[in-house]
Amino acid sequence: MHVNTCAVFIFRTCLLCILVLGGSCTGVEEKSVPVKETNTVEMKTIDSPGLCPQARGTISAPEPYASMSNPLPASNHNISGGKMLFREDAQPLPCENCHGFKGNGMGIMFQMMKPYPRDFTCYYTMKGLSDGQLFWVIKNGSHGTRMPAYNKLHDSQIWQLVHFIRYFSNSKPLP
Ligand code: HEC
Repeated sequence: MHVNTCAVFIFRTCLLCILVLGGSCTGVEEKSVPVKETNTVEMKTIDSPGLCPQARGTISAPEPYASMSNPLPASNHNISGGKMLFREDAQPLPCENCHGFKGNGMGIMFQMMKPYPRDFTCYYTMKGLSDGQLFWVIKNGSHGTRMPAYNKLHDSQIWQLVHFIRYFSNSKPLP
């Protein structure tokens, strides 16, 4: 819509205006979060290893979330439930689109956002994040980043997701 409006405007103006306004119409108005990545992804593709360790643009969860542990057992049932949500079912958008099939933070949409999605395969980053931190971010989103809130999911589904994403930095094979 914005681009169409610009195009109409440009057609009505002289060549000089096109040159001047063309730049301002195509300028990307993306809000960026002041995060300094510890690495660069310019040459990376969705199959590359993720950013590890990775700077975070997400704030810390408040108590009581911050110190919570996952109340669900890490059973095959719960991990598989998390996997289905991550890959296909979670709304507004399955996590895989951003965090990647391999959980490396390089899903098909990763280059469209800064900071980049969390690389769940990075043990160094993930070991510092409590279960409650992961739960709180999934439920509420991460303000100032593209991480959406999944507040329509039941708490039990979010805890299943927490079990699943832990598996990416785990040496055990996925069930
Ligand atoms: C539209 C893209 C997008 C989708 C879809 C998405 N995320 Fe994220 N996610 C992000 C971004 C961007 C960040 C912020 C990274 C940062 O903090 O620097 C993030 C951060 C996170 C974090 C990090 C929390 C922390 O404290 O560091 C967790 C956990 C997470 N996402 C889980 C999920 C799960 C689970 C889903 C699906 C239910 C999901 N995300 C879907 C983009 C997305």
